Amino acid sequence: AAPSAVIVAIDGPSGTGKSSTSKAVAAQLGLRYLDTGAQYRAITWWMITNGVDTDDPHAVAVAAGKPVIESGTDPSAPTITVDGLDASGPIRTQEVTSKVSAVSAVPEVRTLITELQRRIAAGARDGIVVEGRDIGTTVLPDADLKIFLTASAEARAARRNGELAGKEAADLAATKEALIKRDAADSGRKTSPLAKADDAVEVDTTALTLDQVIAHVVALVEEKRTAG
Ligand code: DC
Repeated sequence: AAPSAVIVAIDGPSGTGKSSTSKAVAAQLGLRYLDTGAQYRAITWWMITNGVDTDDPHAVAVAAGKPVIESGTDPSAPTITVDGLDASGPIRTQEVTSKVSAVSAVPEVRTLITELQRRIAAGARDGIVVEGRDIGTTVLPDADLKIFLTASAEARAARRNGELAGKEAADLAATKEALIKRDAADSGRKTSPLAKADDAVEVDTTALTLDQVIAHVVALVEEKRTAG
């Protein structure tokens, strides 16, 4: 990688503004961008469309190596394909969202996707922002900067609902319940659960606007670049 290249890991539960923040930070700083949740969603979508029982870890493990997942890392137009097909729409359905935690808890799935993520990060000559749940702890433990985004469950549910509005409008209580359930599954699984790395900077976004969070993270990256 070039001397100015930085690797930034951004982890946290859903609804903290992780994706919006990561994309904007990457765009502002000229870095690539990788949405690792989209990769777990893509493999989940493939399992569903190919009739694999996502509640059967053995079946998921056996099928895990079959789909070819590719991520485009331009922060202004990130892409995700499965066997060459655009998956960006289907991976955002409620069905995929409700099944992705089970699929992503299967160790064989995590091993394959983690290898893919490391290859993409290693190939990003100008640096990259990688967002997910276990990037700072497992995927890229040597990242130059690790951020852990948090927010209250209320704030996260409200944001998620805002994103869903017009598509699959849900009520706030139901969104909050689904979100808490998914976080518990992601945090409680055996293989690299959602967790803050010891050396991650925690940013509570509850009372911050998206622009404030972006500015804060950009400043942290700039600080690292000058120091490093
Ligand atoms: O960020 P997201 O909501 O699109 O992520 C979807 C799911 O993928 C999330 O519920 C857990 C899983 N995931 C994971 O296990 N590890 C990651 N690094 C990213 C996502």
